[in-house]
Amino acid sequence: MLADLAAADVEFLGFHVFAGSQNLSADLICSAQRRTVDLILELARKSPPIRYVNLGGGFGIPYFDKDHPLELSAIAGNLAELLGTAIEPQLPEARVVIELGRYIVGECGVYVTRVVDRKESRGRQYLVVDGGLHHQLAASGNFGQVIRRNYPIAVGNRLGNEAEEVVNVVGCLCTPLDLLGDNVSLPRAEIGDLIVLFQAGAYGFTASPTAFLGHPPPVEVLV
Ligand SMILES: Cc1ncc(COP(=O)(O)O)c(C=O)c1O
Repeated sequence: MLADLAAADVEFLGFHVFAGSQNLSADLICSAQRRTVDLILELARKSPPIRYVNLGGGFGIPYFDKDHPLELSAIAGNLAELLGTAIEPQLPEARVVIELGRYIVGECGVYVTRVVDRKESRGRQYLVVDGGLHHQLAASGNFGQVIRRNYPIAVGNRLGNEAEEVVNVVGCLCTPLDLLGDNVSLPRAEIGDLIVLFQAGAYGFTASPTAFLGHPPPVEVLV
């Protein structure tokens, strides 16, 4: 099949493999990249010359208390070895790229939404905000996460204040999925206050169902 491409009327460039996202284990990323290169070398035996090798993204960022930043030096060493010992000798025409998403923009983004109501239900205190999963699907825990965990969250206009209450921060959509903070300890927030989610620059606006229920889209501000 790959060999047939040489005779077909297509411009075959090479391979693009994306193994997954939000990985904080340098060992696992190195292993995925090694296996990807092995696979491509194997396929290259039967393919036209390879001019492009894309090893995908997947570099994670810390969102939660126990997360540690990725150790880039191990990945850099592994990539240098793969280039020097495997790709350059065996695929000399190949341009090699990685395409990082989250690692580049995730930590740069802050999502700000306003409290429009406070209410108590079955003994729980809720802060209802004018945003929600239609702006920040990943922060709501509905973007492929197996276990939902809270993004770092704060009351933006009360940053110096001590936490006073445990609340659920919910969006304005008609679904219990629309949860931005589950049992989070925050200073007491009033209607009009600003709820802030950090690490929100990736898989927010671009991954969210912005048209859901016809609420206004978020405003993106580049600072
Ligand atoms: C094909 C492809 N490349 C790159 C990325 C970026 O991944 P990451 O944010 O893990 O770096 C994605 C994300 O889904 C993807 O689907």
